[in-house]
Amino acid sequence: MRIGIYPGSFDPLTLGHWDIIMRSAKLVDKLIIGVLNNSEKRPLFSAEERVNMLREITSEYENIEVEMFDGLLVEFVDLKSVDVIIRGLRAISDFEYELQIAQINHKMNPRVETIFLTASVNYSYLSSSIVKEVAQYGGDIHDLVPEQFVDRIYKKFEINKNANK
Ligand code: PNS
Repeated sequence: MRIGIYPGSFDPLTLGHWDIIMRSAKLVDKLIIGVLNNSEKRPLFSAEERVNMLREITSEYENIEVEMFDGLLVEFVDLKSVDVIIRGLRAISDFEYELQIAQINHKMNPRVETIFLTASVNYSYLSSSIVKEVAQYGGDIHDLVPEQFVDRIYKKFEINKNANK
């Protein structure tokens, strides 16, 4: 059985992440979404909240599991017998960082390969940071994140989009 991991912060999950998740799940027998527990970075959603949101949205997909990890990804990869790390590439600006991470991960754990999926053109500009930037000023995020998370994101910024309706 080939096991893949799609690691990330997912703070919050964007439609770009979701696109990579759906495409990755077809490439492996089991896909683990690895949610980084980076509480020291003061994320918008706690690691528990992010894991729960991802479990909620992937509940109907039998070959997708959501797990929290901290420490080195390559150690978690061994713990879970992962064969391949999957990352999305949006633009050339992502490449340098992703190349470094893939190479150090391969050096630390030569058993594991990293593969890259290119982001769909529709989402090449999209990131969790952009979503947070738009949401905190009350901008429209409906085309940026899964619908069921829109209100939860606004709520974190204490924005009530229904106030004038
Ligand atoms: O969505 P992100 O925040 O770009 O994801 C980055 C992530 C989680 C894949 C990366 O930061 C990571 O793997 N962190 C765990 C620590 C680690 O193993 N770092 C790489 C080697 S230094």
